Amino acid sequence: MAERSVPPRVVVAERVAAEVGFMHSCIPEVGRLLVLAAAAKPCGVVAESGTGSGVGTAWLCSGLGAGARLVTVERDQELARRAAGVFADDDRVSVLTGDWRLLEQHAPFDAFFCDGGGKREDPERVVELLAPGGLLILDDFTPSPRWPPRFGGEVDELRLFYLTHPALEATEVLTTPASSAVVAVRRH
Ligand SMILES: C[S@@+](CC[C@H](N)C(=O)[O-])C[C@H]1O[C@@H](n2cnc3c(N)ncnc32)[C@H](O)[C@@H]1O
Repeated sequence: MAERSVPPRVVVAERVAAEVGFMHSCIPEVGRLLVLAAAAKPCGVVAESGTGSGVGTAWLCSGLGAGARLVTVERDQELARRAAGVFADDDRVSVLTGDWRLLEQHAPFDAFFCDGGGKREDPERVVELLAPGGLLILDDFTPSPRWPPRFGGEVDELRLFYLTHPALEATEVLTTPASSAVVAVRRH
């Protein structure tokens, strides 16, 4: 069966990942969610913490409206430099080098893929950085058939935080049979 095509810039970013041996890029199933999130905010500010080699950034970029901006941050200097090269021809995209908190000066976010920095260290701040109606995507969870969700036999407090936060409408969606993402919207 023919496979669904992948945006060309994703292919470039995946090539960079292979060249530098970076193994933590998002999977295409998450990428499709990122396209959707960016496309839902055609004039918005779209953010990503943890650029890696730019694979998630490239998915976000492929849904980015002409009037939108995308800002992503990576603390590994070499990765940030290589990822910046992938987007050098697109002035809607800024790749920052440093800690995820550098993103704060670009908030509030209409869509936020929180993938490296913030998600675990300061989840309350992650929620604060969302604009009203802003979308939050967090991946790399393990589906749990029970409530509250569990991971390794223990209640997954971090996932529970996002799924039950009073400022969020949140749900968990399967990205593959063995992985899930939390998708949330900040209430108005
Ligand atoms: C899961 S990978 C990112 C993958 C990328 N978002 C993608 O979808 O292809 C996480 C990245 O976050 C970066 N990172 C981790 N903590 C960070 C922090 N506090 N500030 C900035 N980057 C961070 C790591 O260096 C790593 O490259």
